[in-house]
Amino acid sequence: MAAARGEFTSRFGFLMAASGSAVGLGNIWGFPTNAASNGGAAFLFTYLILAFALAYPALMAELIIGRHARANAVTALRAISIGGKTRLAALLVGFTGIVTVSFILSFYAIVSGWMIAFFLEPLSRLLGMEGLSNWLTSDAVVRNSLFVVLFMMLTVYIISAGVKEGIEKWASRLMPSLIVILFLLIVYVLTLPGAMDGLRAYLIPDFSLIADPSLLVDAMGQAFFSLSLGVGTMLIYGSYINKQENLPTIGSMVALLDVGIAVLAGLLIIPAMYVALNNGVEIYDDAGGLIAGPGLIVSVLPALFDTMGAVGVFVAFAFFALMTIASLTSSISMLEVPVAYGVEHHGLERRRAAIIIGSIITVIALIIVFNFDPLFDIVVTFTTEISQPLLGFAFCIFVAWIWQRNEILEEIKSGCPDAESGLFWKIWPFYVKFICPVAILVVYFQ
Ligand code: PHE
Repeated sequence: MAAARGEFTSRFGFLMAASGSAVGLGNIWGFPTNAASNGGAAFLFTYLILAFALAYPALMAELIIGRHARANAVTALRAISIGGKTRLAALLVGFTGIVTVSFILSFYAIVSGWMIAFFLEPLSRLLGMEGLSNWLTSDAVVRNSLFVVLFMMLTVYIISAGVKEGIEKWASRLMPSLIVILFLLIVYVLTLPGAMDGLRAYLIPDFSLIADPSLLVDAMGQAFFSLSLGVGTMLIYGSYINKQENLPTIGSMVALLDVGIAVLAGLLIIPAMYVALNNGVEIYDDAGGLIAGPGLIVSVLPALFDTMGAVGVFVAFAFFALMTIASLTSSISMLEVPVAYGVEHHGLERRRAAIIIGSIITVIALIIVFNFDPLFDIVVTFTTEISQPLLGFAFCIFVAWIWQRNEILEEIKSGCPDAESGLFWKIWPFYVKFICPVAILVVYFQ
């Protein structure tokens, strides 16, 4: 007998969990640096349009399938399929999603491990432990391995506790803290010399770049990764929403929270980089662009905090607390995808499933740590640039071309009785049927 499925107990709980999944490393360092190197507000503008016109409809597809089937991705896609071929395709897409998200977690855990190390570093400095402080910021295999294991243990711990006692409880604690820390950091950084140059770089649009295809590709990739789409994360969270909930409304709240926090993160990161420049820290790479990705987080910003004197210790502590929280609320949503499959498909007990699958992913992450140079980039590219958009495409096809239209409407109507006459139902089916798949393919083949 399968154990009873979990369910989010409140709208707030779901919103914190789903926005926790969405808001992650992608928002806090991906979005701001993408924006800064792609024409500032011109990127912001494109991103906002793509997020609401393409990513939001795809997010809704996952939430609706999930809540309808009340099951993991494989079972859910099979439930909406008709005929042998589509059921086989459902198995393939669902399973590829599970594998993809597990590999995403394996590289995400490495970067998140760095965040914990950098979070502990200011503490060690306060305690006068110079040696420990140097070790925590050194890029050594031993340090990286230990923190990967620690981060995965935290993720497994939360997922073992289940939907209500694990995901919902922790997301409801961590996400409000994240928002408070983010606001405090923005207010502080904006008072520093140089910050206004950053604000200008971020908010004054360079519209000459708006027709640049690479801007579109970046904005679209950013929107899909940021909303955790294509890999069954939002599907599984959708499967824990109760039937009285209005899906179009809470879906749009998740998208708004995600986009809102990305935009806010830009108000922190870009001004912080220009404050660093003002303090003599190098913020441009060899090609003349702003240093992005890991270099930004583990070298530019720590160098900035160092120039701030005593306050810098607290700012560093707050900043890396923010990064750790953002990572953890995303990583739990990733692990939930294979764990839900293990529990529902193979009858594993949740704790056991979390430990077994979590251990396998930890081993993969350790293999990457030990062979960082070739493997890290390959895994990132393969999962986020190849697999994720294709899976996003497949989800749109399933919902718009395979699933029966009246069943979709029935599902939306539960919790939103007059959905049929509403704006969502007028626009969304057309969007997921034509615009989303075509747009994804166009961008993909760029
Ligand atoms: N959305 C997360 C971020 O922005 C990443 C993520 C991708 C989470 C896929 C779950 C699934 O960092």
